[in-house]
Amino acid sequence: MRARDVELIVTGDEESAAKRVAEILAESARGGDEIALTGGSTPGRAYELAAELEPDWSAAGVWWGDERCVPPDDERSNFGLARDTLFAKLEAQPGRVHRIRGEDDPAAAAALYERELRGTTLDLVLLGLGPDGHVASLFPNAPELAETERLALPAEPKLEPFVERVTLTPPPLRSGRRIVFLVAGEQKAEAVAAALAGPPDPAVPGSVIRAESGETLAVLDQNAASRLRD
Ligand code: 6PG
Repeated sequence: MRARDVELIVTGDEESAAKRVAEILAESARGGDEIALTGGSTPGRAYELAAELEPDWSAAGVWWGDERCVPPDDERSNFGLARDTLFAKLEAQPGRVHRIRGEDDPAAAAALYERELRGTTLDLVLLGLGPDGHVASLFPNAPELAETERLALPAEPKLEPFVERVTLTPPPLRSGRRIVFLVAGEQKAEAVAAALAGPPDPAVPGSVIRAESGETLAVLDQNAASRLRD
């Protein structure tokens, strides 16, 4: 299957995929971009390397594509992941940190985050991809995928960790100037093929997220890319 509206970068292993994404993050931070980070187990290494490449993030604004509804010091927190792997290693902290308040009521946290984001275009949207094809906390066939007005909504998890989420909806993700998927591992190969090469299908949320007027890039290790052609 050939990728649809996505530029692919396929690297030898997960470490080199993380390094490539770290370069993108570092350049973006240096340029003072509005950057949406992602959670999960894959991006931590890219965050560490990005801090080494660019230890001064004072020009950058940092956002999140989604958050687990837990306090910021909980080990499942996406903010906590960035704090420990990125912020803790910087010499100068990001000028603007727009945390989703996972410790609050999810509807209230989503409404507050939406108010903060409205009027801002994300320059860089980093996304992972779940084995079920989810991105941010937009899970297969979830009602949030059809949202056209709201920028952030509460969402029910369909995979571990089973805590409620707050997620960006498709409009702010699609209006990102640059969307970058970072995906590694053989267990993601089917999801990668469906999300990047299959037709747009709400059963595979990654397949409906492309930059409307910017560019969409996928940085994959060769295991994750193994079901793609070219
Ligand atoms: C989250 C995410 C989510 C993640 C994927 C991939 O909070 O869980 O933002 O969308 O990116 O689930 O996660 P892994 O890297 O752990 O596979």
